[in-house]
Amino acid sequence: MPNVKFFSGENIPLEMHKVRMVQRVYLNPIEERANSIKEAGYNTFLLRNRDIFLDMLTDSGVNAMSENQYASMLQADDSYAGSETYYRLESVLQDMFNMQYFLPAHQGRACEHIIAKLLVTPGSTAVMNYHFTTTKAHICMVGGEIEEIIIDEGLQISSELPFKGNLDIEKLKASIARLGKDKICFVRIEAGTNLVGGQPVSMDNMREVSKICRAEGLTLVYDASLLSDNLYFIKTRDPNFKDTDIREITREIGSMMDIIYFSARKLGAARGGGILTSNNEMFMKMREMIPLYEGFLTYGGMSVREMEAMAIGLQESMDMDIISQTPIFVEVLCKELLAKGVPVVTPPGGLGCHVDARQFCEHIPQEKYPAGALAAAFYLCSGVRGMERGTLSEQRNPDGSETLAHMELLRLAFPKRVFTLSQVKYVADRLTWLYENRKLIGGLTFEEEPRVLRFFFGRLKPLTNWPDELLKKFRADFGESL
Ligand code: F0G
Repeated sequence: MPNVKFFSGENIPLEMHKVRMVQRVYLNPIEERANSIKEAGYNTFLLRNRDIFLDMLTDSGVNAMSENQYASMLQADDSYAGSETYYRLESVLQDMFNMQYFLPAHQGRACEHIIAKLLVTPGSTAVMNYHFTTTKAHICMVGGEIEEIIIDEGLQISSELPFKGNLDIEKLKASIARLGKDKICFVRIEAGTNLVGGQPVSMDNMREVSKICRAEGLTLVYDASLLSDNLYFIKTRDPNFKDTDIREITREIGSMMDIIYFSARKLGAARGGGILTSNNEMFMKMREMIPLYEGFLTYGGMSVREMEAMAIGLQESMDMDIISQTPIFVEVLCKELLAKGVPVVTPPGGLGCHVDARQFCEHIPQEKYPAGALAAAFYLCSGVRGMERGTLSEQRNPDGSETLAHMELLRLAFPKRVFTLSQVKYVADRLTWLYENRKLIGGLTFEEEPRVLRFFFGRLKPLTNWPDELLKKFRADFGESL
C-alpha cells in the first residue's frame, strides 16, 4: 500500500499530524440531550453546537486547517479587484488540473447554480453516476431532470468492489440512445459519490466516459468536492496507479473533463469553491454570471483569507499522508462496527462511516424515515451528531408522494484530522449499544415540511413515545454515566 501508515498488525491508524490548538467539547447528560433533540424537531441539522459532543454531521467547512493554511491568511491581499491572492489561487488550480480558466464562487452549490444556468434547458436531462442534494435542486430549479446511471452494485450496501461509484457504461449508451444527445444537457461524474457512501470512481471508468462524451459531443462535468478521498482510493485500490504521482493523476482527470467544479469547504479544507474549464466559450458565458451572483471576478463571494487558505489546502491535498487520514479512520470505524454485526456500507468509503438504517431499523418503513429516526436516536444515546442520508433528504414528487431513497443511511462524517481514535471507539461503543436496543427506535413524521431541501429545516416528531423508552433503557444499562 503506498504511503499509508497503520501499526499493530495494520489495525491502528497513525495520525500523521499533531494537535496544536483544541476546542473544548461537552457531553451533556442524556436527559438534556432528550430535550435538545426534541427542541430540534428530531432533525440533527437543527441542534445547537453547544449541545453536541462529537459533530459528525459533515466535514464541510469544519476540517482542521494546517499551520501553513493559517499562516497564509496573514498575507491575504485584501482588495475588491485584482487581489494577488486571487492570482495565487488561480495559478495553483490551473496547475493542479491543467486547465486554462478559473472562476471563483462562494461554495459548491454556487458553482452548481452557475453551471445549471449555463447548460440546463427546460426538459433536458443531466446524466450522472449519482445526484447530490444541491446539484439536483439546481438542475430541477431551471426545468431540467436528472438520470442516475451508477453501476448496480453502487446501490448495494455490502460489496467488495473497489470502485462502487463508477458509471455504468451500458446505461450511459442506453441513455444517449433513448434521450438523444440533444436532450442531454451534460454528463456529470461525482468524485467520491457522496449519497451512496462516499464511493470512488476509477480512472478507467472516467477515461471511458470521457471518450464517449467526446465522441458524442456531450459536455462532461466533474464534481471534485470529494476528490481527495477518491485520489486516495485510486492510489490504494488500483494497482496501475500505485506508483503514479498524485499530481499526475489529478492532471489526467483534468484532461478528461470539460468543466470541473468543487466545494472548497471539502477539497482544500477551507471555505469557498470554484469552477475550471479550458473551453473559452463556456468560460465567457459563466464569467458574466459571477459578478451577478457571487462577487467580483477576483473574489467570487469569498474572503481573501479563505482564498489563501484554500490555495495552500489544495496543494496539501496532493499529499498522501494528509489525504489518507479520513479514509483510514473511516475504515477503522467500519471494521469495529462490522465486527459487532452493525450493518455499514462496504467497502468503507471516504467522507464518513455510513450505517445502513434499513437493516438497523428494519421494523421502520421508509415512509417513517428510518435513517432520520436513527440519527435522532444516536444523538440521544451518545451526544454524537450524524446526518440522515435517505428518504428525508429527497424531495416529494409533484403529486405529493414520497421519493423513496435508494439507500437509507446514517452518515457519521469525519471532518479531516479532527477526531482521535478514542473518540472513534466511543462512537463504535454507543452505536453497538444502540444496535442491541434497536427495536426501541420508532419512526418519525413531519410537523413542518419545507418545500425545497426539506431535510435542512424540517421539523419532525416521533410517532410513539420511543425516545422516552430509549432513555429509560439507557439509564438502566449505564446507571449514572453520561
Ligand atoms: N457536491 C458534493 C459532492 C458535495 O458533497 C457538496 C456538499 C456539494 C456539491 C455542495 O457544496 O456545500 O460547498 O455548497 N456537501 C456537504 C456535505 C454539504 O455535508 O456532504 P457546498
